[in-house]
Amino acid sequence: MKTNLQQKLKSYGKTYWNFEQIKRDGIHKIANYPAMMVAPMQHKLIEDIVNMEGNISNIFDPFHGSGTTLVEGNRFGLDLIGIDINPLANLITKVKLQGINKDTIYNSNEELFLNLKKYKESNIEAHSFEKIEKWFRNDVIYDLSVIRKSIIDEKDKKNREYYWTCMSDLIRKYSNTRSSTFKLHIKEESKIENMDNNIIKDFINSVETNISSFESEKSNSKLLIQGDSLEVMGEMEADSIDFICTSPPYGDNGTTVTYGQFSILSLLWIDKKDLTISNDQLIKNFSAIDTLSLGGRIDPSISKSDNIPSMTLVNILKTISIDKQKKIKNFFNDYFNVIREMIRVLKPGHLMVLTLGNRRVDNKEIKLDEITKEFCINNGLEVEAEIVRNISRKRMPAMVSHVSNVGPVKSMNSETVLILRKGEV
Ligand SMILES: C[S@@+](CC[C@H](N)C(=O)[O-])C[C@H]1O[C@@H](n2cnc3c(N)ncnc32)[C@H](O)[C@@H]1O
Repeated sequence: MKTNLQQKLKSYGKTYWNFEQIKRDGIHKIANYPAMMVAPMQHKLIEDIVNMEGNISNIFDPFHGSGTTLVEGNRFGLDLIGIDINPLANLITKVKLQGINKDTIYNSNEELFLNLKKYKESNIEAHSFEKIEKWFRNDVIYDLSVIRKSIIDEKDKKNREYYWTCMSDLIRKYSNTRSSTFKLHIKEESKIENMDNNIIKDFINSVETNISSFESEKSNSKLLIQGDSLEVMGEMEADSIDFICTSPPYGDNGTTVTYGQFSILSLLWIDKKDLTISNDQLIKNFSAIDTLSLGGRIDPSISKSDNIPSMTLVNILKTISIDKQKKIKNFFNDYFNVIREMIRVLKPGHLMVLTLGNRRVDNKEIKLDEITKEFCINNGLEVEAEIVRNISRKRMPAMVSHVSNVGPVKSMNSETVLILRKGEV
């Protein structure tokens, strides 16, 4: 008898998919980003699906984040297509996939370290942007400027991109924002004053140790696009994708995970010439990325519209205060449009894997998994398999953000992996 996917995934046992004791390792460790997926779990899922389907040569992640899924897809030699609106997510993923220039990196490092020493001693002009002094201590601004100038001097673009990635974690670490939330939230003054400055030492260490995480390059094609996935998918051909595997945002970034606020300080330090920024508005202020992300743009006509393509959502909305309904409707309007596009670009008979979390608003569960299932079934997909897994506490701070009028927003403790198949025509 042919085993189906659900049987196969279940056969490993109840707790297998929790991947509880797993530490972030290898290439996945080179930079931090919010809500990173568990690489060995994505690896196993992709492996089983690729082996059982037998007709997958490309993988598409329309919300690639730090690139966990694409990096694992790369290990199976699949052609990669990824989109993310956040230029930092894009840079980190690019570096993980393209690696470093092995012929030049050791010489480049030597020169980089000499420049760090030279600039540290030579009173260079400090980098500046609006409110820089609010978010960084003066000595930190100087040392980060030294690193920035030394990276700009590097001639090889691949190596520069690698250095920016190494620098990005340190920018957050040595900033005046708290590490307990992804939002920008100023630390207590005493903590700012007492912070030790080991930036340059930490940077050298990061550059040296991360090199060993890179693997040999594969010849598959890798297409990474910085942009709004709805817009970008609009340009993609129908029925062109073999396999979609993604974790879309669970709610608008501003009130769930603030990927943009997490990234903006790094983006303001990195030389713009080495970033892909499709729209200058994205780095116009500290929360612009979140506002321009899925569900962030408020469309006044939506709150009036009652044309919601999910009864599950309609019933949940009835239990939620009017002012919060607006934001939820707004998010789902964008979300359904995105899912529609994902279905359109997927080849008939092929699979789409969505990892989804149900957040709470007004202490009511927004059942993103049930809503997505209902919407996809109504749009010609069938549920092939489903996994409900616990999320390790270590992956997310207990509170992902703090929202005015709402208070601290707790992170979720479980997520659903929904595997759907598009019907044959
Ligand atoms: C749940 S994360 C992806 C997590 C990722 N799988 C990982 O391993 O880190 C969602 C991503 O969606 C991106 N995003 C939000 N709105 C977007 C949009 N309209 N277009 C493209 N990307 C968007 C965010 O920047 C974020 O990186």
